[in-house]
Amino acid sequence: MSTKSRFVPTLVLKTLVLGALASLDGTALAQQQSLPPLMPLSNKGDVENGKRLTATCAGCHGIPGYRNVYPSFHVPKLGGQNEDYLEIALQGYRRGSRSHDTMHAQAAEFSDQDIADIAAYIASIERAPETGISGASDEMIRAGQEKAAVCASCHGQNGIAPAGQWPNLAGQHASYIERALTQYKNGERNDVVMAPMAAPLDEQSIREIAAYFASQPGLFTTEGM
Ligand code: HEC
Ligand code: HEC
Repeated sequence: MSTKSRFVPTLVLKTLVLGALASLDGTALAQQQSLPPLMPLSNKGDVENGKRLTATCAGCHGIPGYRNVYPSFHVPKLGGQNEDYLEIALQGYRRGSRSHDTMHAQAAEFSDQDIADIAAYIASIERAPETGISGASDEMIRAGQEKAAVCASCHGQNGIAPAGQWPNLAGQHASYIERALTQYKNGERNDVVMAPMAAPLDEQSIREIAAYFASQPGLFTTEGM
């Protein structure tokens, strides 16, 4: 009898906790179940095989200024991107912590070796640095530069990352940077490092920071890839 009564409060407590969890929306739950950060692969990439595997990518990534239709934003530039980060990005689509349908379908088919080969090929393409597409005013870019100071330790003052596992942002299209930050904020893109970085940014700050990084010369379109 005494044993039983000691368990009752525990049960009540459990019910309350489960009830509170059930009332959280999907986004909050997705953020709670944050997946572990992805690592670059140890496979050595084969550039020639990577070139063969990327024949289907050119229709979107190889056309300057090509847009994703719905939602509307510019397809990200891949030229000049870090090899380690490209491996992390493709693994993210493969495991579903990044949600784009076409990219998930592409990456779902790839082995670790395929991903290493693709990253090695893309990283081997050389071209002059470009700026990204953005309609921002000089004033917005200046405001963005100030707000981007907190990002410099991983993405570099000018958007060139100091280490390969972090993406270069310099020269990326502004609309894509805005999309990425919005997705980290709402949990559609799941990353334990970027979620708390994006959380405090309002829409205006996101536009300004995106404008700043887009205005810096860096990434380029892999035409013909
Ligand atoms: C139908 C158009 C389309 C095709 C085909 C396509 N992509 Fe993409 N890709 C996109 C879009 C749109 C995004 C951004 C999606 C998002 O918001 O996560 C993207 C994102 C990426 C990223 C992440 C970039 C970053 O900065 O994080 C990589 C890497 C990538 N694609 C590689 C490839 C490779 C390799 C192929 C071919 C095997 C390919 N893509 C084929 C449209 C496409
Ligand atoms: C502690 C390191 C760190 C800091 C600080 C940081 N980031 Fe990141 N950032 C990352 C990592 C790691 C990723 C890749 C995460 C993933 O796989 O989605 C990333 C990805 C991004 C992407 C997506 C790039 C792409 O090509 O898809 C954007 C945009 C971005 N960060 C913007 C910012 C901004 C803006 C700030 C400052 C407010 C910031 N980051 C601060 C580590 C950092």
